[in-house]
Amino acid sequence: MITSPFTFFATGGSIARLGAEPVFGEIEHDTFNLDPDWLRGYLADCSATQIKSIRAIIPIHLFGHSADMEAINQIAAAYEIRVIEDAAQAIGAEFQGRRAGSLGWCAAFSFFPSKNLGGLGDGGLITTDDPELADNLRLWRFHGGGGGYSHRYVGMNSRLDTLQAAALLVKLEHLDEWTHRRRENADEYHHHLPALLGNRVTLPVEREHCKHVYNQFTVRVRNRDAVRSRLSEAGIGSAVYYPIPLHLQECFAYLGHRKGGLPVSEAATEEVLALPIEAGLTTQDIRAVCEALARAVDHDQPNL
Ligand SMILES: Cc1ncc(COP(=O)(O)O)c(C=O)c1O
Repeated sequence: MITSPFTFFATGGSIARLGAEPVFGEIEHDTFNLDPDWLRGYLADCSATQIKSIRAIIPIHLFGHSADMEAINQIAAAYEIRVIEDAAQAIGAEFQGRRAGSLGWCAAFSFFPSKNLGGLGDGGLITTDDPELADNLRLWRFHGGGGGYSHRYVGMNSRLDTLQAAALLVKLEHLDEWTHRRRENADEYHHHLPALLGNRVTLPVEREHCKHVYNQFTVRVRNRDAVRSRLSEAGIGSAVYYPIPLHLQECFAYLGHRKGGLPVSEAATEEVLALPIEAGLTTQDIRAVCEALARAVDHDQPNL
C-alpha cells in the first residue's frame, strides 16, 4: 500500500499490521501531502505484477488540507487501485466542494482529543459509499460477527463506545463554528506574519478549490528547534509534527530506506513548527504568538 512518510505513525503502522508492505512516497513541499507526480512516476516504473500487488493508495489530508484528490484518483483509476483517505486530521475539509471522507473508496477519521472533533478519549469513524464494504466493516468492528454468537471473520472490538459517542454528538453541534474560528485564526497569522518576518517564515497554503480546516497551523522556519525553545521561554506552546519521517523509523528499517531518499519529506521534518490555532484563541492571542515568533526568529536570523 502506498502512502506518505510525513504523517502520524498510525498511517504506516496500520498497513504493516495487516501484513502488507508500506511503500512510502514523496510529498509536495507546500501542502505536505502525497505528491501525485511522485505517484505517477513510481507506478510508471512498476511491472504489471507489482501493480497487481498494490492494494491501495492512502493519501493523508495532513493538518486539515486535502490531498490533490483529483490527480490521485485519476492515477489510481488508471491502474485500478483503490484509494483510502486518511482523513484523521481533516473533518470538515473540502476539495472541489466535496468533503474529505467522500473522495475515495473509504476514509478513516480520528476523534482523538487533539482533533478538530475530539472525544474524551480514543475513537474514530470510517466513511464509505460502498454498501458491501460498509456491511463488512460493521462485522469487523464487532469481532467479525453480526451480533449473536456466529462469526464470519476473526474481527476486532472496534466499536465507538457510548460515552465517546455521547460527548461527540454534543461537540458535533459546534464543529462548524470551531472550524470557522480556526480559519479566522489562520487569517490572522496570514495577515501578521509576512509583515513581521517576510520570507523568513513559510506559511501554510490553502489551494484553490480547497477548504483547509487547520487541525494544525504549520509554518516552516530555519533553526526550528532553537526558535521553538525561544517560543517556549516566552510561554508559548508549539509542536513538531513530525520530527522523523516514517521511512526512517527503526521499525521500518527492513524496507531498506536511506537518509536522503525522500528529500522533501525529510526537509519538512527539520523545518515544520505547529503554532497555536485552537478555536478558543482570540485575535490578541494570535498577535502575541506572531510577535513572540518574530522575536524568536530575529534572535537567530536578524533581518539585516
Ligand atoms: C494522520 C493521522 N492518521 C491516523 C491517526 C490515528 O488516529 P487514532 O489515534 O484515532 O487511531 C492520526 C491520529 O493522530 C493521524 O493524525
